[in-house]
Amino acid sequence: MTKNYPSPDQPVASADLRNVMGYYLTGVTIVTMTGPDKKPYGLTVTSFNSVSLSPPLILWSLDNRNDKLPLFQDAGGFAVNIMAADQLALCRKFAAADNDRFLNCDWCFGKYGQPLIKNALANLECRPWAEYDGGDHTIFVGEVMSIKHNRGKAAAFFNGKLGQHEG
Ligand SMILES: Cc1cc2nc3c(=O)[nH]c(=O)nc-3n(C[C@H](O)[C@H](O)[C@H](O)COP(=O)(O)O)c2cc1C
Repeated sequence: MTKNYPSPDQPVASADLRNVMGYYLTGVTIVTMTGPDKKPYGLTVTSFNSVSLSPPLILWSLDNRNDKLPLFQDAGGFAVNIMAADQLALCRKFAAADNDRFLNCDWCFGKYGQPLIKNALANLECRPWAEYDGGDHTIFVGEVMSIKHNRGKAAAFFNGKLGQHEG
């Protein structure tokens, strides 16, 4: 079914953008950061992408309503954990409210002090490169300082559902 959008002069409704972006298949990441109290924090993120190879830059965006926004803005960096197909429960846990996300999650501090989730497909430790206004989100660009990766199938997100990519 083809849907036509009304006016060329007005941007589309946010619900229409949300729906159409559901048709863009992505992997699933958990972005983590160490707070000033040395405690780990993390959330499930699909807005991750690469930006530049030289220098090696990646980006992701954080909802401005997230109360950890100032922590990410002041942090010495963050890590992007690219989640494996058998880690969908963790992807759900790190998007759900009111739970101790790192409890029963196998993780360690990386070389640059950021929390790395073990058995993820990859862990990228980043230091801050730039931060941009992205409407109701803040775009964080990080310079990748260290990479670990494993082989395996990937967690995927499509049409509002978490699933597995056969790889
Ligand atoms: C598949 C999926 C992708 C998500 N991607 C993002 C994202 O790119 N940016 C973001 O700010 N929140 C994203 N979220 C929502 C956050 O994970 C969720 O709001 C966050 O965990 C709330 O954290 P808090 O309880 O610490 O505020 C996503 C959630 C899911 C389930």
